[in-house]
Amino acid sequence: MDAAGILMLLCALEVVAAGAVNPCCYWPCQNKGVCVNVGQEGYECDCSHTGYYGENCTLSYFWTSVHTFLKPRPAFSHYLLTHYKWLWNVVNKISFITDNMMRLVLTARSSLIPSPPTYNSEYHYLTWEGYANVTYFTRLLPPVPKDCPTPAGTQGFKIRPNVTELAQEFLLRRTFIPDPQGTNMMFAFFAQHFTHQFFRTDFNRGPGFTKALGHGVDLNHVYGQSLEQQYHLRLFKDGKLKFQVVNGEVYPPSVKESPIKMKYPSTVPVEKQLAVGHNLFGLVPGLLMYATLWLREHNRVCDILKEEHPTWSDEQLFQTTRLILIGETIKIVIEEYVQHLSGYHFKMKFDPELLFKEQFQYRNRIALEFGHLYHWHPLMPDSFKVQDREYKYEDFLFKPDILLDFGVDTLLESFTKQRAGRIGGGRNINGAILNVAISVIEHGRQLRLQPFNKYRKWFGLTPYTSFQELTGETEIAAKLEKLYGHIDAMELYPALLLETPYQDGIFGESIVEMGAPFSLKGLMGNPICSPYYWKPSTFGGQTGFDIVNTATLQKLVCLNTKRCPAVALKVPDNGSSKSEGEREQTKMEF
Ligand code: HEM
Ligand SMILES: *[C@@H]1O[C@H](CO)[C@@H](O)[C@H](O)[C@H]1NC(C)=O
Ligand SMILES: *[C@@H]1O[C@H](CO)[C@@H](O)[C@H](O)[C@H]1NC(C)=O
Ligand SMILES: *[C@@H]1O[C@H](CO)[C@@H](O)[C@H](O)[C@H]1NC(C)=O
Ligand SMILES: *[C@@H]1O[C@H](CO)[C@@H](O)[C@H](O)[C@H]1NC(C)=O
Repeated sequence: MDAAGILMLLCALEVVAAGAVNPCCYWPCQNKGVCVNVGQEGYECDCSHTGYYGENCTLSYFWTSVHTFLKPRPAFSHYLLTHYKWLWNVVNKISFITDNMMRLVLTARSSLIPSPPTYNSEYHYLTWEGYANVTYFTRLLPPVPKDCPTPAGTQGFKIRPNVTELAQEFLLRRTFIPDPQGTNMMFAFFAQHFTHQFFRTDFNRGPGFTKALGHGVDLNHVYGQSLEQQYHLRLFKDGKLKFQVVNGEVYPPSVKESPIKMKYPSTVPVEKQLAVGHNLFGLVPGLLMYATLWLREHNRVCDILKEEHPTWSDEQLFQTTRLILIGETIKIVIEEYVQHLSGYHFKMKFDPELLFKEQFQYRNRIALEFGHLYHWHPLMPDSFKVQDREYKYEDFLFKPDILLDFGVDTLLESFTKQRAGRIGGGRNINGAILNVAISVIEHGRQLRLQPFNKYRKWFGLTPYTSFQELTGETEIAAKLEKLYGHIDAMELYPALLLETPYQDGIFGESIVEMGAPFSLKGLMGNPICSPYYWKPSTFGGQTGFDIVNTATLQKLVCLNTKRCPAVALKVPDNGSSKSEGEREQTKMEF
């Protein structure tokens, strides 16, 4: 008998010694059927409401087959949506078609997210605790059962590849790979700023818990996490937030005036420590820049509301303005941010009324998997360019001075010009932040995330059959195969980054198909999008409602800066001056 044979025998003996393998470790239930182990060695698949039946939920009902047959493959839809620009230019003008398409996008995407939420990192079966305890991130897929032979169930090796080596070999940047979609630093910092209101892991409790109990777009990164923090940030006059004036411009107050616990190294003097809703936003001047913009916007909207409602209390002005800013955020995120990311020529629209006749739950719970998927650190460049200066990481991080010295306008101009890195395709994370990728992979293991292919299946994607198919090449694929043993054992986060990106795309199919459902569900699941909220009175009347419905990033900038610099979420391309035109128009209107 050769070595491999002996090894196999040993493994078999081990299994026998430990009793039979939990049959659910083989993932027998297909098509979202739920596996329940029965007796010592048995299992049952619960196929209820899946459209399938049979022992393993593999047999489809007639209408399910029709539906599956007619449903276009994601890669095909993506191709259509990112090509034929001339056709889309026509389609985008016909609101009957665009409304129906947008409705389809919203319902098709968000129907993939269970709502109310189901599992969490503690419970692989349904529990009241899992539903009610919002300190957990929810889990789309339950953890791999603890008694499985391998971390992926039954496939792959017992021992996972060394994380540090994995990150260094496959994720560490060799030379900067710019994003082919032209994504810039404006986008990168927007992403970081926007998402950190709902991705706020509570490491004191563990990587499966969150501090952001609102589970969505509540702007706690502007208004603070608790009422106590909020009170420190508020002026208690005319609904406004506290601020300070530096070089004739408005900035967040220092922690002296707003004594909330911000995280700054002791090297930053107290009067330079800016206080904002998220206690880690002192980390990056780009985050403080967005914090400043939103603070100015808040106080600007307060003035407008106060003018219309001179009798309103500070409280009512504050609360109503917060709802307006939530609306503005969702509008900008859907129509500009998601629009840019998608690369679609189809023009997306933020219109909550599209869902009023649909089955849609106005609630959201942030999923752990969404947080992992959103670790877009490859966006970060090798150095940060501000005007004619270039900062290394150590000179840029925790340097609020950069914002105060250059001012918001200059940072906006510089970040709009600087290209961000491509997220997908591997080997594009700067060494200074590679440890973040290492820790997200470690957390994935600790929390027993199901393998990548299982997530592919959930989102209606065909599981990859080989590493070559995943990476679209052979060299990296061969190395991965050696490390993981089987494609069905490949881990979620590394796979997302190592999947072949779309042609000229920022990332590949899986980040799009998994990210979009979480994202759109989170945005449209916001209470302000529901029928009793989505009306002018909620926003202080037609004026406030109009502010929400006409919000753009360019306006946010123009109405709150001196110079009204041209901004965009991608680097300006040489030919067109469309954003310049929009800017001129905005300047004239206001
Ligand atoms: C200079 C830029 C950045 C630095 C220094 C940085 C650093 C970090 C660090 C230290 C963590 C905590 C890691 C851990 O202990 O698990 C983290 C988490 C995270 N980062 Fe970044 N990051 C940067 C930019 C970005 C960008 C552009 C994004 C884009 C979306 C992003 C998304 C995230 C997410 C989603 C998390 C998880 C947050 C949580 O759940 O608490 N980061 N980052
Ligand atoms: C269901 O799956 C199990 C385990 O994968 C397999 O042994 C069995 O033959 C399958 N049953 C049917 C009806 O396909
Ligand atoms: C949620 O669960 C955690 C972990 O079991 C526990 O420490 C915490 O007290 C629970 N929170 C609530 C509000 O029940
Ligand atoms: C992983 O590899 C690194 C670098 O080669 C090494 O320092 C570390 O001890 C290894 N970790 C484990 C858990 O083996
Ligand atoms: C824009 O022009 C610069 C310099 O003229 C050139 O390097 C760059 O590749 C051009 N970019 C695009 C998108 O055409």
